Amino acid sequence: MILQDKEKLIARINELKEERNAVILTHNYQRGEVQDIADFTGDSLGLSQQAAEHEADVIVFCGVDFMAQSAAILSPQKTVLIPEILSECPMAAMITPEELIIKKKEYPDAVVVAYVNTSAQVKAHSDICCTSANAVQVVNSLDENEVIFVPDRNLALYTARYTNKKIIPWDGYCPTHHMILPEDIMLLKNTYPDAETIVHPECRPEVIDLADNVFSTGGMVTHIKRSKSSKFIIGTEIGMLHRLKKENPDKEFYPASSCAVCPSMKMNSLSNIITALEENRYVVTIPESIREQAKKSLDRMLESGRGD
Ligand code: 13P
Ligand code: SF4
Repeated sequence: MILQDKEKLIARINELKEERNAVILTHNYQRGEVQDIADFTGDSLGLSQQAAEHEADVIVFCGVDFMAQSAAILSPQKTVLIPEILSECPMAAMITPEELIIKKKEYPDAVVVAYVNTSAQVKAHSDICCTSANAVQVVNSLDENEVIFVPDRNLALYTARYTNKKIIPWDGYCPTHHMILPEDIMLLKNTYPDAETIVHPECRPEVIDLADNVFSTGGMVTHIKRSKSSKFIIGTEIGMLHRLKKENPDKEFYPASSCAVCPSMKMNSLSNIITALEENRYVVTIPESIREQAKKSLDRMLESGRGD
């Protein structure tokens, strides 16, 4: 994009933000130019906290469907806009409320922990939500000893390493993190033996076994700023590297796999943010009975804070 055009688009976004008292929230995997104009960039937990606390009338949510839905669940008085209606998380679509109801009947004594990467309907049938930043903390805070953990089997298995509770994992997974293979990590470790390896808990267990540290995207940001290492192998969606490089110009980053791209996260642009604000689209709406139930699970999670 020509610099002059980009500057015009940014100026228009700022004008519209003021007119509509809007705030732009973006996930760490968004395109660089989208992250650069955001009021807040963060992980799922940080974005939920911002959505719940921010004073704005309008939230433009640049992430995927379940994240914008969480904002609408937590802040019904605000207008939540998602610039691209097709930006859906495939993992969140791997469980339906009907399937969860059947599973709950199989395990009547179990509590249901729903990763925020779920629909509002699935959250409404769960007891508490978690994100990758607080999954272990949330599970260990429960009185029950049996936990149905949906929908990410990898996050469930990672959490099981740090609890004595019985974890019953759902068989969902993130197609993007699934592309990162142990061979990718080993190749980079051999090339950069002094690099620190950090991966997301959505990675396969065999990849997690090779990591020095496992963090949510927000946890990666905090840890890397403080770390004494100067080189990092990063096992997550490649959008993460934009922020890491920008905030740590003296450090070097190597993506575990350049194939690890989440197509849904890349659908937002400066242009569709402008259209969202000009045409008030696409407004995220949740039926009130589902919203109230889902909010209980999200509120319960927010009360437990960050784990990383
Ligand atoms: P974070 O909450 O760690 O940002 O993860 C969200 C996500 O969708 C990872 O794929
Ligand atoms: Fe969903 Fe994976 Fe994309 Fe995250 S990276 S939004 S889990 S598909």
